[in-house]
Order: sequence, then C-alpha cells, then structure tokens
Amino acid sequence: MESKKTFYRTIVLSVFITVSSAFVLIKNEQKNAKSIGDVIAVAKKQYRQMLMHSSELSSYPRTADKNGKTKYVSIEDWTGGFWPGNLWYLYEYTNDVDFKNEAVRWTESLEKNQFNKSHHDLGFMMYCSYGNAYRITQNKKYKDILIQSAKSLISRFNPTVGCIKSWDFRASWDGKTVWYYPVIMDNLMNLELLFFATKVTGDPIYRNVAIKHAETTLKNHVRKDYSSYHVVNYDSVSGKVLNKQTCQGYSDNSTWARGQAWGIYGYTMIYRETGDIRFLDAAKGMADFYMNHKNLPEDKVPYWDFNVNQNGFTPDWKYNPTALNYIPRDVSSAAIVSSALFELSGHLGKKGDAYKNFAISTINTLSSSAYLADTGTNGYFLLKHSVGSFPHGNEIDVPLVYADYYFLEALLRNNQLTRNTAP
Ligand code: GLY
Repeated sequence: MESKKTFYRTIVLSVFITVSSAFVLIKNEQKNAKSIGDVIAVAKKQYRQMLMHSSELSSYPRTADKNGKTKYVSIEDWTGGFWPGNLWYLYEYTNDVDFKNEAVRWTESLEKNQFNKSHHDLGFMMYCSYGNAYRITQNKKYKDILIQSAKSLISRFNPTVGCIKSWDFRASWDGKTVWYYPVIMDNLMNLELLFFATKVTGDPIYRNVAIKHAETTLKNHVRKDYSSYHVVNYDSVSGKVLNKQTCQGYSDNSTWARGQAWGIYGYTMIYRETGDIRFLDAAKGMADFYMNHKNLPEDKVPYWDFNVNQNGFTPDWKYNPTALNYIPRDVSSAAIVSSALFELSGHLGKKGDAYKNFAISTINTLSSSAYLADTGTNGYFLLKHSVGSFPHGNEIDVPLVYADYYFLEALLRNNQLTRNTAP
C-alpha cells in the first residue's frame, strides 16, 4: 500500500517538475526574445548596411565568412532570389518605399533566369523574387516572367520517372554511384511556381506536372516513419529507382534536417494548392517526426542532421573538421519549419494548435541573442548558425540568406501580414 502511495507521489512530482521546467523554459525563451518590432528594427539596420556594401547587382549576398565578411554568388546560383525576397518582406512589414525600390532593382536583375533550364531551382530563384514582386505589385511584366520560368522548369520533367530532374547527370558526390536522374527532396519547393502558372494561364500542364512530382516524391523519398531521403536517383528510360542516397546529410539512411524541413514546407504548400488529404497527411507526418524527435534540442533548433554520430548511421564522406568539437545546429531548418507550421496550423483550425505553438516557440528562440545577430555583424544577415553542406565542408555555422528569408516570412505569417495561406 505504502509503496503504491510512493509510486503515485513520484508520478505527480515528476509531472509537476516537467510542467514547471517547460514553463520556465518558455518564460526564459520569451524573456530573451526580441519582439517582432525589435527584430524588424534589426533587419532594417542590417539590410541598409547590406545594401550599402552590395553595389554589384550581379552579385547576390548568400553567406558570410568566419570574419563576418559577406560572400556573394552569381545569377546562376540557386540562392539569388532570396535577397530580393527578403527586401520584399521587409517592405511588406515597414511600408518603407526605399526597401520597395531596392526590392524592384534586385528582382529585375534576375530577369534572364526565366530561360535557365540547367537545374531545378527556378522556383526558389524566381518565385521568392518575382513571385513576391507580382503578389505585392500586380505588375503584368512580372507575371509573364514567372510564366516563362514555369515553362523552363517543366522542360526538366520526364513522365516515365514522374519527376522534374533536379540536377543533370553527374557522379554522386562521394564518387560511388552515378546519378543519371537525381531528384532531391528540396525540389518540392519549386512546385509553387507551377501551381501559380496554372492559376494565371488556365493551362493545367504546370499543375499536373507539380502533382505528379509530389506523388512520386511521396512514394520514393518519404519513409514509412515520415523521415526522408535526400536524393533518389532514377533510371530515366525505365523510370525505376536506382539508388536512395544523401548529398548534404550524414548518411544515406539518415534524415538531413533541411531536407525534412523542405518536405514539411513543400507538402503543406501542395495541400494548400490541391486540397488533397494525402499531402496534408505527409506534411503532418513529417512535421510530427521533426517535432518529436529525441535528438531535437530543447530550443527547437535542430542539429544539421537528426542522426549525426548515431548507431546504425555510417557516413561515407571524407570531410573531417578536426577543429570542430561540437555538432553544429542548422538555423535555416528551424526558420523553414516555423514558417511552414504557421501555415499548416492554419489548415487545421483548433487541431493545429500544437503546430502553431511550436512555430511561435521557434521564432521566439530565433529572435533571441543566441541566434539573432547584433547589428553591424554577421555579414549584415539576421540569423547566425546555419549549415550549407557539412559533408562538403561548406558553410558550417554561418549565416545563410535563406534562413533570413523563411524567418521573415514566419514573422509575417505569425502576424498574418503576408499571403493568405488558406486552401
Ligand atoms: N537546396 C539546397 C539546400 O537546401 O542546400
């Protein structure tokens, strides 16, 4: 009898301790977090300085080196559209016409990309720039450029495979296999451009390609437990799956944090555009995997891969950062997921509260000094501590322009200031 009482007392005490620690954690998070107004004040200062230091319209800010010096990329790089996108979001929040003028200039500098058929990233490049530009200005010229971009993107679709090819034929990055028809999880993000093109032209071809691609990806990239493969390599003649591998993750069977984040965002957006419950289930399943993973740190900013150093996961890559005695986090994943979860919760009404609370908690964390840069530092980006590609030794624990993009989008979505996310 006595031992039963002790047992129940222990349970009650543990529940009390757990609930109060969670409360203290949330309180601390909120205490250190800047308000959205303060974050936007930081963004205004940082981006004004970025504009002052970025005079070449053909060089797009992407990241910074260890000394905080901004690093730029050319118009061909997949990340070129995020910088104008950031300026559009900042304009949307502030109504400051200087940011609008800059957003226009930087967006229009990407015009020739509408004809780029050399990889799958046109959605990122053109929808984050011209997509926001058209949404905010309704300028017909921007619509036409987006339609041409969608035409270029579907030129990479093979109906036998049922996917848009991400990259052209190449050796897998570890040299072990040949990627004939590689498709990466990230590619889901490019489909928003295609849904847009069908809506404004009335031509179903873009939407049909997008839906087929989303179905094939669901079948081959998403595992039964809703974790995800990064790369699936197909035979372009038979359409058969040849390999399931990674490029930027820890191992072929691991879950690369940003790949999972693209999946959560991608399937949420595809559900918005189709109303198809299969895609809602995928978004929820992938989000649940991410949110409940035992290796997700308490502050909700994931390690760059969920399975780093875990039993049963063996990396093949050679890069060995001996100077690193910690596992880097990837803030870009946290930013992408927070934006996605605001939308996902909107589709679910009251049942979406857990997703919304997780998103709020994440943006509070990202708005604290642990992740938000001091003005004048961090290459004039907002967020610190992202990872581009660990196995390649590229961009480890640095700012990334797309982390800022999805963070700003999440802040706007939280305030319901940006695009309507209802189906
Ligand atoms: N789409 C490339 C990346 O997420 O790094």
